[in-house]
Amino acid sequence: MSVPNHATASPEEAASKRRVLSGIQPSGDLHLGNYLGAVKQWVAGQDQRENFICIVDLHAITVPQDPVALRDNTRRLAAQLFAAGIDPDKTALFVQSHVRAHTEATWLLMCSTPIGWLERMTQFKSKAAAQEKVQAGLLTYPVLMAADILLYNPDEVPVGEDQKQHIELARDLAQRFNHRFGETFRLPEPVIPKAGARVMGFDDPSKKMSKSAEAQGHAVLLSDNATKITRVIKRAVTDSGREIDFSDDPERAGVNNLLGVYQAVTGHSPDACVADFANARGYGDLKVRVAEVVTEALAPITQRFDELMEDPTSLDQLLSKGAERARAVAEPKVQEMKAKMGFLPA
Ligand code: AMP
Ligand code: TRP
Repeated sequence: MSVPNHATASPEEAASKRRVLSGIQPSGDLHLGNYLGAVKQWVAGQDQRENFICIVDLHAITVPQDPVALRDNTRRLAAQLFAAGIDPDKTALFVQSHVRAHTEATWLLMCSTPIGWLERMTQFKSKAAAQEKVQAGLLTYPVLMAADILLYNPDEVPVGEDQKQHIELARDLAQRFNHRFGETFRLPEPVIPKAGARVMGFDDPSKKMSKSAEAQGHAVLLSDNATKITRVIKRAVTDSGREIDFSDDPERAGVNNLLGVYQAVTGHSPDACVADFANARGYGDLKVRVAEVVTEALAPITQRFDELMEDPTSLDQLLSKGAERARAVAEPKVQEMKAKMGFLPA
């Protein structure tokens, strides 16, 4: 049995469009990995798709948060997403805590989630190992993520490679619920972009570019100016060779990463990317060119971001419009769950 999607705009329009749901943490400014691995896909798809993007502030508190920083980071992220091309008329960009159905559905799902499934999650294991004390929310994080997804019955969930396991868990939870209470959820599919799916740190190409890494030369941020971008990319760690080619040799991960970024930004095929550097005199030329294409791609985004941050009232209004559209889908879904599970109607 197929599960119908609920319309947000006109029913005809929503029925003809595939629904996409994604989530992103307000845990610091977006970096190039977030942009190339996730945000660019959302922007590219927003005409053909019915998009929901959730700023997952409730996920953020699974590690300690300073309240002032959390509020600021949530606004900055929203502004960066709008600046990167998310159009509030086409995409429902909203803050997770503004739509109560997410927390409510989490509890409902959590009560039929075996703890062992959660303890097996590789992200939990690595995050837990990095902490002195582990809070329950870190363990139950993937159930909240499953609620984010399942409430919307999305056709696609675009994520980076690192989130695949969480999507599989959401599938398993959906299957369990459907089996026990009758067809309720569509089984979610991860969509992992090929180019730029995994951007590595410029200071250490063996590690994924991440918001939590503090090192100066690690990341390029969507809030960085041209000078900073160029400095970081020119200092990128490479090897002592000269050959500019894609490679899975760990020794050559730096060059592979630079080429991967070039490919993701330009959209050229891997062969065309290698051909573009056929006459390069060495890694210096590669870095200069990568810095150029990245700077060019980010300049309009930084400018729009600054403008949006100067007007927080309008920004908050855009977010409340997004939450309203999200609620229209998520609220009936959580009510459906509760009715099927035997809760009395309120
Ligand atoms: P996060 O900030 O970790 O919540 O990530 C937000 C989105 O960006 C998710 O879809 C991640 O998978 C993606 N992402 C984060 N870091 C990278 C990276 N270094 N390369 C590619 N995608 C990434
Ligand atoms: N856990 C995801 C990450 O760290 C963020 C996330 C939360 C998410 N809820 C989601 C991603 C729902 C996709 C769909 O990247």
